[in-house]
Order: sequence, then structure tokens, then C-alpha cells
Amino acid sequence: MKQSAPTPNPRPMMAFAAPRLGEEEFTAVDAVLRSGWIASGANVTALEGELSARFDGRPTRMLTSETAALEVALQLLGIGAGDEVLIGGQTFFSSGNMVAKVGARAVFVDVDLHSRNIDLADAERRLTPRTKAIIPTHYAGLPCDMDALYAFAERHRVRVIEDAALAIGSSWRGRAIGSFGDIALFSFHPNKNMTTIEGGAIVCNDEADARRVEVLRFHGISRLPDQTRDVDFPGGKFNMPDVNAAVGRAQLRKLDGFCRHRRALAQRYREKLLALLPAGHLPHPGHEGDESGHSWNLHAIRLPLEHMTSTRSQIMDAMRARHVATSVSYESPHLTTWFRRDGWRAGDLPNTELIANTTLTLPLHAGLDDDDVDYVCGALAEVLHEGGWR
Ligand SMILES: Cc1ncc(COP(=O)(O)O)c(C=O)c1O
Repeated sequence: MKQSAPTPNPRPMMAFAAPRLGEEEFTAVDAVLRSGWIASGANVTALEGELSARFDGRPTRMLTSETAALEVALQLLGIGAGDEVLIGGQTFFSSGNMVAKVGARAVFVDVDLHSRNIDLADAERRLTPRTKAIIPTHYAGLPCDMDALYAFAERHRVRVIEDAALAIGSSWRGRAIGSFGDIALFSFHPNKNMTTIEGGAIVCNDEADARRVEVLRFHGISRLPDQTRDVDFPGGKFNMPDVNAAVGRAQLRKLDGFCRHRRALAQRYREKLLALLPAGHLPHPGHEGDESGHSWNLHAIRLPLEHMTSTRSQIMDAMRARHVATSVSYESPHLTTWFRRDGWRAGDLPNTELIANTTLTLPLHAGLDDDDVDYVCGALAEVLHEGGWR
């Protein structure tokens, strides 16, 4: 790859993801800190209610992260040693990790090359009598085909834990992700469409499950009539502090605006990048006729590396030299050292691996504007051409 001459760049480094915080969040945090009640309190309860309203009244509980919510969800469903859980291969490490942590076997499933969402035909091939649940990720905020997913779950009598980390603000045919189906989990990490600094949520089917989540997220403690406490399961400590919930409440009020902005930026990316890359290397534009259901948490292209002399790492460095941060979302969880020990090998999930080896996440967040997108696309064109792409 030819080295680009370092030219002074007046642009600050552009993050690939960033929270958008304003006076509302600062004021809300200030009020909580001054209130004297900074652990889980009124703001957590209020945020749970506000999210639940968005999810058609389904009981919702806050936790310290989605990873915590994954662990709690698996415990809620009684999944453990001897059980298997199907996991869409293009996802973050946390679902495989938590399945392993509760003692069950993670069975990774290949994805569709374009949508990057779980391939249910492959899931079908990997079912065994021990399969208890399926964890599909709504990749980048693009909902899985919910009709096909829930038909699969019903046909094979498996529970669904939707990994909706990237899908707060997404919908399927007008219904919010989280407002129907089985268990849905959300992340409010700073890279997500709205943030609670760190945080997660679990959407449950009924109040009994929600009450069980309250126990599982707080040491497994239940209160006895004589005002003493008992533990019937060694629970974790995953309750969200009120400071985080106060940030989340302010963010939730802005969420729909953030998602509209993200969709407009994604549209602009598409218009520009169609001149540079084949359509199949660009992110899936959203389900036909339901494009507004995509909340665009990530904008991840696939690099045509097979036609280039440069590596992805060199391309990332060259973008950074132009003050554009990029990322890899995601590597293949089944090929981590941990899961290789369980027998997973390169070639097991062809589409997932092709994506993992060629994907590049470009900046997309509510703090960017059209000019930023144009700049990224211009920088990418230069870098790809330097690497031999024509
Ligand atoms: C797809 C996906 N699932 C789960 C998680 C875990 O979320 P958290 O960081 O809140 O534990 C992430 C985090 O980035 C993610 O991207």
C-alpha cells in the first residue's frame, strides 16, 4: 500500500460512535447527586415505566449492562449444564460468554451475508433435543424477520432471548422491538442509540418473571414476612444506579430524534458509497417497505479485500491518519480462544467469518452531519484506491 503523505488536518478525530449528551442529562445527574439517593431509586422505577410504555406495557427491568441482563435472562429460563443455546454468529462476545458462564453450550449459527442476521435454516440444522433457547441479534439495528423467528421458536419449542443491544428505536412492521415476542434485552452502553452510561434492560413476559428478575439482579435476596431475608439462588449484583437511570430518562425523550438523524446519515452514506462499492458490500438498507424500522446503530461495510493489496488493519490506520476512527463489529465469537477449546474451527460459519474478516464500521452517530459523512466517504475512496481498489 502506498503511504499517504501526512497533511495537517484541521478536523478533530471523528469517533465511530459517541453519545450525544446535553444540558438535560447534566441537570438530571446534578439533581440525583444532590438528592442524597444515588443507588437504585425513583429514577430507575420511572425509567422502567417509561420503557415499558414504549414496549406496549410489557414489564421492563433495568440492570447494569446487557451482559448482566443476558446472564439473568438465562437464569430466569433455568438454562444451565446440559442445555444448548443457539446464537447468531455475527454478534458481540457477551452472549456466548454468558451461555458458557451459566454452564450451557453455545451453539453458534451462521448469518445471512447481507442482513447479517441469524440464518434460521442453519439454526434448524444445529438443533438438538438439548436446545433450549435461541439468541438472535438484530444486527446494526436491522430487525430479524420476526415472523420467521417466532414461527421457528414455536415449531421447535425453544425460548427466544432477543439481543436487541443495537435495536433500541427499531421496529418491525410498526411495532417496536421489545413490544412483542419473548424476552428482549437492550444495552445502553455509550455506543448505543441512547445511553445510561453503562446499563441494560430486560423486557419480560409477565410480572412474575419481572419480580424474579428483581431477585436475580440483587443477590438472589427475597424478603420474608418477619423482615429478614433469604437467598434461594446465588444471584448477582446488577441493579442500575439512579444516576444512570436519570441520564437514560433524558436520553429516551430524544431517542426518536436520534434515530431519525441516524437514518438520514445512513441514507447519505448509501448515496455516496454506491459509487465506490458494490451494493452487496454496503449495509442492508432496511426491510422493503419497512425501512424506518431500522434504527441504524452501526454502519458497517464489507471491504473488497480480495481485490486489494492492503489489509484491513492498514486501511483502519490510513483512515485514522485522516482523523476518522473505524472499528470491527464484529469478530467471530466462535473463533475466540475460549470457544476454539470447545471445538469451533474456521470454516464452521462461512458467512459469519467472511463478514468478520472484511467488515469495517464507519462513523455513525447523532452528533454527525452530512458534511462529516461526505468527508468519511472521500477519505475512504482515497484509502481504498491507494490500496488498489478500482
Ligand atoms: C450485539 C451486542 N450484544 C450485547 C452487548 C453487551 O452490552 P453491554 O455492553 O451493555 O453489556 C453489546 C455491546 O456492545 C452488543 O454490541
